[in-house]
Amino acid sequence: MRVLFVCLGNICRSPLAEIIVRDEAAQRGLTERFTLASAGTGDWHIGHGADHRSVAIARKYALDLSRHRARQITRDGIADWDWFIAMDRSNRQDLLDMGAPAERILLMRQFESGQELDVPDPYYGGPEGFDQAYHMLRDNAGRIIDFLLRQGR
Ligand code: 4NP
Repeated sequence: MRVLFVCLGNICRSPLAEIIVRDEAAQRGLTERFTLASAGTGDWHIGHGADHRSVAIARKYALDLSRHRARQITRDGIADWDWFIAMDRSNRQDLLDMGAPAERILLMRQFESGQELDVPDPYYGGPEGFDQAYHMLRDNAGRIIDFLLRQGR
């Protein structure tokens, strides 16, 4: 299963989501089942490393984001992926506008019990936003994996 995590810049949220889900899959012996990557809908940060605050929160939990390089998803790349995991509803709309099939787009928080659907963008805030994003992503990683396994492709 080819799964792409998508946010706006591909420097804060989706790189963290990718590495956390990869870690969760590895812990469950599922590494071979998934090809995981992340991308942004915007082009501002193509080729840049992850935001230093995302690198720091990953490191705090023994995950290495230091080699991440930001990429952009465009219309031409849509066919390369089976599933898109959008960090918020605006990322989801951007993917729809690129022609991604609605039934292949999930929201990172859609399986949570509460009403919130978006992983808030921590880019303009302080370090606590990155800590919150980390825990939000960690809480939902297993739920996303469970759903994908049930779909089979
Ligand atoms: P991300 O955060 O979408 O979680 O990577 C952002 C990073 C950069 C910008 C916006 C959001 N930006 O406007 O440059």
